[in-house]
Amino acid sequence: AENVGIIAMDVYFPSRYVDQAELEQHDGVSTGKYTIGLGQSKMAFCDDREDISSVSLTAVQNFMEKYNISYSDIGRLEVGTETIIDKSKSTKTVLMQLFEESGNFSVEGIDTTNACYGGTSAVFNACQWVDSSAWDGRLALVVAGDIAVYASGNARSSGGCGTACILIGPDAPLALEFPLRGTFMEHIYDFYKPNMSSEFPTVDGPLSVTSYLRAVDHAYTAYLEKLEKVAKVENPSLKDVDYMVFHSPYTKQVVKGFARMAYNDFLRSPDSAAFAEVQQFKDVSREESYGNKVLEKAFISVTKSEFAQKTEPSLLAARNIGNMYTGSVFFGIASLLSQVPSEQLQGKRIALFSYGSGCAASTYSFRVRGDTTKIKETIDLANRLDKRLKVSPADFEKVMELREKTHNAQDYEPTGNINELAPGTFYLQKIDSMWRRAYART
Ligand code: ACO
Repeated sequence: AENVGIIAMDVYFPSRYVDQAELEQHDGVSTGKYTIGLGQSKMAFCDDREDISSVSLTAVQNFMEKYNISYSDIGRLEVGTETIIDKSKSTKTVLMQLFEESGNFSVEGIDTTNACYGGTSAVFNACQWVDSSAWDGRLALVVAGDIAVYASGNARSSGGCGTACILIGPDAPLALEFPLRGTFMEHIYDFYKPNMSSEFPTVDGPLSVTSYLRAVDHAYTAYLEKLEKVAKVENPSLKDVDYMVFHSPYTKQVVKGFARMAYNDFLRSPDSAAFAEVQQFKDVSREESYGNKVLEKAFISVTKSEFAQKTEPSLLAARNIGNMYTGSVFFGIASLLSQVPSEQLQGKRIALFSYGSGCAASTYSFRVRGDTTKIKETIDLANRLDKRLKVSPADFEKVMELREKTHNAQDYEPTGNINELAPGTFYLQKIDSMWRRAYART
């Protein structure tokens, strides 16, 4: 198949959010810590009516209805998520109930998990299926999303919730540049979920930040090497990428990630005119550079206008929803397509940096070769973000307590108000004595 990649896409995020400036006040932290320090405006969250199965059901069913696609046209469905409610049964098999009416039970793919990286792995798998001799001519769906919640404390404000549903097939407007891929994986305990009785991760915050930047170094360098060897680009650098989308735990980390790529460009070509103002960092060792705030600020400063052009448009969802873990980079693409007119995107390269703690990371890219207007209009991102309901930090805390108390519940009927869910949202009706979950739709 030719030009395999993203044909269409929709996103789901909860109808309620908490304002980050109000949360600063409520938490008693200094004004600006979440809004400027982390670069976040709003955080989406859900109560006990939603779980990873319901948000995935919502994303898929809304996608199929909006694009008018038949379930019998799908030959592969993969879910990338780290929101686990069952150690054996995949979310993918829960989604198979949507296929029942069509009579299509022949759908490959299961869940794929490693922190925020599962969505990228699922997209690679789906694209490779379409590109392979195993392909039977049908389309593939990827669901990438999570409910990101943290224990109360300094990480809580970096939560969020969102699910992307992505249609993969040939002749796509966003074609995956197959060989242009740089990957970095290593064993590290920065963010992980060893406590099976809790929804919360165990986090070493400072280590997770450094690990993200180390992964930028390696995955970006490996990507540049592919540009050089495979695409025969001389002296590859950020100049060869038109838009750079990052995994966003919070948008300030993305600013740092972009600056870090520029730092790598600098190490590769220290004498380039673009780096005249940062020559004093020539002799800093890479290891030392991670904790060097002066260096970090200097590279943020020299990349300011390039960042505004290449990355800022991809942050609309991240800033207003929060971390969506596996969905993050795809909400980044959705934001970019929403913020930049389709004509301006034609022929352009959109690169992604996907990072999952633990850690697994890749830098890869798509080439825009078709109209993206329909995707933009279908997602209708800015409008939908504006239509949400603001909830006070005190009520948000109550919801978090409810989720904590009812995590892993058995024989349970959720108490959340279904009238506050957007039309077309699946919600949890009941968990029975054998932990079987039943859902209905608003
Ligand atoms: N005004 C402006 N800026 C402020 C203010 C203020 N009033 N107060 C603090 N800041 C700045 C700090 O200077 C700091 O900036 P810097 O990053 O440039 O140094 C930033 O805000 C964050 O403040 P910290 O004190 O470092 O924040 P804290 O340690 O309390 O929490 C952390 C941050 C560790 C990232 C936490 O949110 C966390 O653990 N999150 C979950 C893990 C995570 O998201 N890791 C990122 C990659 S891994 C992943 O994707 C899950």
